[in-house]
Amino acid sequence: MNSSADLSKNLKSLIQNFKIVLDQASSLQELEDARVDFLGRKGRLASIMSCLPELSKDDRPALGRLANEVKDALNDLYSEKTRFLEEQKQQLSMASFDPTFPGRAPDVGSLHPVTKVINDICAIFIRLGFDVVTGPEVETDFYNFEALNLPPGHPARDMQDTLYISENVVLRTHTSPLQVRTMLKRKPPVAAIAPGKVYRRDSDLTHTPMFHQIEGFLVDTDVNMADLRGTLTAFAHEIFDPGVKVRFRPSFFPFTEPSAEVDISCVMCNGSGKAKDGSTCRICKETGWVEILGCGMIDPEVFAKVDYDPERYTGFAFGLGVERVAMLKYGIGDLRMFFENDLRFLKQFA
Ligand code: PHE
Repeated sequence: MNSSADLSKNLKSLIQNFKIVLDQASSLQELEDARVDFLGRKGRLASIMSCLPELSKDDRPALGRLANEVKDALNDLYSEKTRFLEEQKQQLSMASFDPTFPGRAPDVGSLHPVTKVINDICAIFIRLGFDVVTGPEVETDFYNFEALNLPPGHPARDMQDTLYISENVVLRTHTSPLQVRTMLKRKPPVAAIAPGKVYRRDSDLTHTPMFHQIEGFLVDTDVNMADLRGTLTAFAHEIFDPGVKVRFRPSFFPFTEPSAEVDISCVMCNGSGKAKDGSTCRICKETGWVEILGCGMIDPEVFAKVDYDPERYTGFAFGLGVERVAMLKYGIGDLRMFFENDLRFLKQFA
């Protein structure tokens, strides 16, 4: 038999014991177990309460009240601990990351094929003793045309599809202005190459309004057409293949005399004009040859503009289309690929 004093002592001790158990509970599950143990239907509080009928009628109300107070106290302790554990759980989840988990690898970029070809070409000419020079893409009429023996009204200006900024300012249509800019600054002997962007009002399957050229020129005493031939043939063998054939075709440029265009045997079809499946080679259009550059001996008129003595000095110059070389080198059939920036295309050059 339980006395009233026993029961009230048991009730009060519940609070102390619950505190101890709660202190040790470190998860919401342990907390729930403690709640069931103390406050559940078959828990410790309920079992003490079930003894209430054993008490005398006089003792019951006081003990009932005490039981309710204890129940409230237990519930308060329980809510407080619940709040604490939930807050802790949230903080942990925010801070929780696994430092050993492998990171997401960043995409590694690569050089654009046009940049690669520019670097390759420059490297070849640097080895031959040429300097690299650069100049503005927005150019004056003087450097782009006039100093290159293309005076106002010259019919060859029409060949260039010029994009004008104003009457006397253009987007350079070729890298040849760098011949003039460099020769005005230096005295012979001069050997330089000038890579850069050029612009023309022209856009179709094989032309883009912006493309890249590399100008090259060499001025000294006794420079002749054989030097030009030797230099460009060595270059073609180096950039493509020692087996590639090189041919010089007579041509015309106002700033060179004589002038030539240089073709190489088509590297796609080995000069046969036929693709592997017997169809027409779409790179050389069945001719077996592809043009890669224009060149010639620098016209004395240009020397006059830069104050070089044409009796003493001679020189050669050439202008080469970078995209054209890149297409041949990498077997790319469509010029537009270079400008679309499709990662699936660009990643192949990584
Ligand atoms: N500037 C010429 C062009 O763009 C190429 C060239 C350069 C020709 C130098 C001869 C000498 O077509």
